[in-house]
Amino acid sequence: METAILEKIQEDFKNRKSCLSHRIVICAGTGCIANGAMDVHEALAKIIREKQLPLTLSLKEEIPPGEEDPILISKSGCQGFCQVGPLVTIEPENILYTKVKPEHARDIIERTILAGEVITELLYKEPQSGQSCKNHEEISFYKRQNRMVLKSCGDIDPEDINNYIYSGGYMAARDMVLNKSPQEVCDIVKEAGLRGRGGGGFSTGRKWDLALKQKSPDKYIICNGDEGDPGAFMDRSVMEGNPHSILEGMIIAAKACGGTEGQVYVRMEYPLAVRRIQKAIIEARKSHFLGENIFGSDFSFDIHVMEGAGAFVCGEASAMTESIMGRRGMPRVKPPRTAEQGLWGKPTVVNNVETLACVPLIIRMGADAFKKTGTTSSPGTKTFALTGHVANTGLIEVPFGTTLREIIFNIGGGVLNAKGEIDNNDFKAVQIGGPSGGCLIEKHLDIPLDFDSLKSVGAMVGSGGLVVMNKSTCMVQIARFFMKFTQSESCGKCVPCREGTRQILELIDDVAQGRGTQKTLTLLEELCETVQETSLCGLGKSAPSPVLSTLKQFREEWDAHIEMNCPTGNCKDLVSYTIAAESCKGCTACVRVCPAGAISGNRKEAHVIDEQKCIRCGACVETCRFDAISVGGRV
Ligand SMILES: Cc1cc2nc3c(=O)[nH]c(=O)nc-3n(C[C@H](O)[C@H](O)[C@H](O)COP(=O)(O)O)c2cc1C
Ligand code: SF4
Ligand code: FES
Repeated sequence: METAILEKIQEDFKNRKSCLSHRIVICAGTGCIANGAMDVHEALAKIIREKQLPLTLSLKEEIPPGEEDPILISKSGCQGFCQVGPLVTIEPENILYTKVKPEHARDIIERTILAGEVITELLYKEPQSGQSCKNHEEISFYKRQNRMVLKSCGDIDPEDINNYIYSGGYMAARDMVLNKSPQEVCDIVKEAGLRGRGGGGFSTGRKWDLALKQKSPDKYIICNGDEGDPGAFMDRSVMEGNPHSILEGMIIAAKACGGTEGQVYVRMEYPLAVRRIQKAIIEARKSHFLGENIFGSDFSFDIHVMEGAGAFVCGEASAMTESIMGRRGMPRVKPPRTAEQGLWGKPTVVNNVETLACVPLIIRMGADAFKKTGTTSSPGTKTFALTGHVANTGLIEVPFGTTLREIIFNIGGGVLNAKGEIDNNDFKAVQIGGPSGGCLIEKHLDIPLDFDSLKSVGAMVGSGGLVVMNKSTCMVQIARFFMKFTQSESCGKCVPCREGTRQILELIDDVAQGRGTQKTLTLLEELCETVQETSLCGLGKSAPSPVLSTLKQFREEWDAHIEMNCPTGNCKDLVSYTIAAESCKGCTACVRVCPAGAISGNRKEAHVIDEQKCIRCGACVETCRFDAISVGGRV
């Protein structure tokens, strides 16, 4: 391919963009689509046509000279703030509308596009101050982030390669393929200090170096888009929102290692990501960025998509290669590493989606500029899925070294208490790193989030799950939740993980159901350590982390359970409900809502609860207007 074509596409695109009267960008990520974004898209187009305004749905179309400047309606990938979606951005006014419904379409066209008015009702309001924000730059959820990998998600049309090229795409790949030796490419990425975002934080440049040193005519590059962590959707968003950035990262990885073929492994629960990547591959092939002699060089590399069946363990590199080869996804003993022997016994580099999406950025900005963001040992940024008891939930990207305090109280907008009100004093813990991670508490809120600092306090960045918990959360139940997940996802290959996780779960159940003693806790700790040390792969090795970390940070809560008391009232077998005679007015409201008929008493006299009949559903507590019913331990 003529190398000037990239510049030509950029120029054409720029010209067409400058001819637009307005651009309306509708977020078409999975979250917004689920909330009706496509209906909004249709409604806006309908009103524009009804008013006989010039409309274009793609910048691919030539705008005939002399014709009135059209309004472009385009789709973007996830912008991270799915909680308030569907999101609609209007340019050049730079207005962001949230929770947009099809019935708002007429107002948007008539009041904003035609009359230049900002519709205040559709603006986002800060949960703490109630202040309306006109655009991303004014919203604290966005303004405190540093979106590098996610920058283009939400701006470019993921289904148009030219849009990616316009934003500078494929320039880095072209430069590496045409002008650099494999070793030079490895060295740039090593120099940038890029560490894998898939959980382990291994040096990407060193992994590529190892693959480069292998003598083999065939080498494979796998993009790991399995993303099995519960609640995580960072990789899905990049795959849906900017698929070409991943393909470009893979081309550069292939050049660095001598890769001949690539696979994008995506779980089949991500159909939009699969479709967009497939489309991106077809477009990239047509443009000769993939296939034989890419960019007109003597280097050939092509990419295929493999849909995984959704087993968490298939995210582990060696299990993934087994799965791609059509076998059962089970990890194998290492060494040899997959970079030495992976797919079909050939050197195979497995890299995470976000890692690969960082690569073109590094090449474009240079290793030194990349290192200016983040910390010395963990340069760059990291995406996190922020969820739980926090006002703003969503996908965020911050420089490594950002504190949890900044993330929870500023970007997240503060902690929500059990009533759903913002109350930062109600913060209890934050679970970081998904099922492989740990719980951090108040004293950890100011440590810089990076691979090494987190390790030193028994947690890990992992793939980037962040679950904020308020004081109504039971830490024994949290430990149980993650253990149940890993136990059911264990592939069963090795005994410590297969049997150990089952036993750990049983011990947690003993504690949660009132059969626990101090000996149970000692046994639990010992078993966790054994499973950690003796399991074959990362799943088993990290499965005990949430249990051990809650035991460490919340020992008194575990002890209380042994004493037959769940302080938060979540473990139903350990709580009892009592009515304080002096507060009860005998209004009978509780009698009427109790589904078990456990409450008795005459009108205008104090009532009582029969503990034998009570099923501990909590309906009476929620109904009582006099705070007369208390929840306590069972003795
Ligand atoms: C049980 C298990 C599940 C994993 N799941 C993923 C995953 O979904 N995505 C991912 O990128 N890495 C996952 N990993 C880590 C991969 O094995 C591998 O280290 C990673 O893809 C390497 O890419 P990176 O160096 O770019 O981080 C998982 C590891 C384990 C042990
Ligand atoms: S640690 Fe668990 S998931 Fe990993 S190989 Fe062993 S049984 Fe399978
Ligand atoms: S899907 Fe629209 S913001 Fe996430």
